[in-house]
Amino acid sequence: MTIATVRGVRDILPEESPAWRLLEESARQIFTAYGYREIRTPIFERTELFARAVGATSDIVEKEMYTFADRGGESISLRPEGTAAVVRAFIENNLHRSLPWAVYYMGPMFRYERPQKGRYRQFHQMGCELFGAPGPLADAEMMAMVLRLLRQLRIDDSLTLEINSLGCKQCRAPYREQLLTFLQGQQAHLCANCRDRLQRNPLRILDCKNEECRAIARQAPMMKDHLCAGCADHFEGLQGLLGGMALPYTVNPLMVRGLDYYNRTAFEVTTTALGAQNAVAAGGRYDGLVAEMGGQTVPAIGFAMGMERLALLLEGKQAESSRRQGYYLLTVGEAATEQGVLLAEQWRNAGLAVQMDWLGGSMKAQLRRADRAAALQVLILGEQELAEQTVLLKNMQDGEQRRLAWDQLVATSGLLP
Ligand code: HAM
Repeated sequence: MTIATVRGVRDILPEESPAWRLLEESARQIFTAYGYREIRTPIFERTELFARAVGATSDIVEKEMYTFADRGGESISLRPEGTAAVVRAFIENNLHRSLPWAVYYMGPMFRYERPQKGRYRQFHQMGCELFGAPGPLADAEMMAMVLRLLRQLRIDDSLTLEINSLGCKQCRAPYREQLLTFLQGQQAHLCANCRDRLQRNPLRILDCKNEECRAIARQAPMMKDHLCAGCADHFEGLQGLLGGMALPYTVNPLMVRGLDYYNRTAFEVTTTALGAQNAVAAGGRYDGLVAEMGGQTVPAIGFAMGMERLALLLEGKQAESSRRQGYYLLTVGEAATEQGVLLAEQWRNAGLAVQMDWLGGSMKAQLRRADRAAALQVLILGEQELAEQTVLLKNMQDGEQRRLAWDQLVATSGLLP
């Protein structure tokens, strides 16, 4: 009997790896250029960290975490997202003296969600967090950075930048009451899930996907019409900056985000190319979180993008793995194989990328494998070459062949296409 992967998780096979490397390398380059440095936090943390940061009433904490007691009896959870751990690391390492502090991360996250296209139980995020910058300039610049990355990857054609303001503690509390009153009047028409979370988290009802709930949400009072003066200024400032940067955006007053730590700016980049799981990047401001988690009051903003979704958008766009490169050594006969191993090491010592055929067999079979390995040059070592101390060189792109002495290969390699 064979053993399959757990539902909702998948392998990234060698054929897909070039796309993933492209994502990681492009992100590193752009995040670094904007002043972010890499942080690597643990894959698991105390459950309490996520309960407090992401929110005890959020779907993530209520229903989706991989939580277990370790052998010492401590409740541990696999990280469902990256922000909570970055905030913990910031506080734990006393970094409020190093503001502004800007970090990026990439890696696996875990949520027990219903798997579907673009939604997995182990998935990967690349994200950034910026601490210490309170103004809308930071928000606009972060969105510009996300869009630049997507543009560089050439997957910006079906995308929309959506923004909203979620207000702050002061203006959200009275708004929440108004919303609750309105929704209570509509209770009979809400889906079971929304009725259930009406008291605990009424804002989440605004972005329920159920058609009837959506119709009600469109009639509901909107946060953006109930902002205090400070929040309204911030939101207006942001829109002015996005306009100035010529970044197209739409205001989506129903976007509330599934994590409780946000205030003021929330944003998402959505695509029409992936079906229901349409957010490729999402984030927002969380000015209160550091203090809530036991640190000082430090404004902060961040986002994360789903790498599986980016990889799906990249599919078919890049023919990057079709570029041939390197040498592939194939040998015919036992003596040639033994000599070939030594020669391959010498050529590698001199800096050439030489892959050796591991299986041997007929020349035809070995050439087929060289082709599949996308080698640019095939080196053939048979009985005749062994006797002459030469190697037959075949260019896999144009089929041209030439014979070289063993010690000529390195000198010639710089001149070869
Ligand atoms: P999030 O909206 O929960 O935000 O996730 C961010 C992105 O991760 C989503 O837009 C999506 O692309 C991807 N994603 C989420 N869940 C899955 C899944 N099950 N399968 C595949 N992709 C998924 C956060 O996680 C926040 N920590 C973002 C943030 C950082 N806010 C401030 N700083």
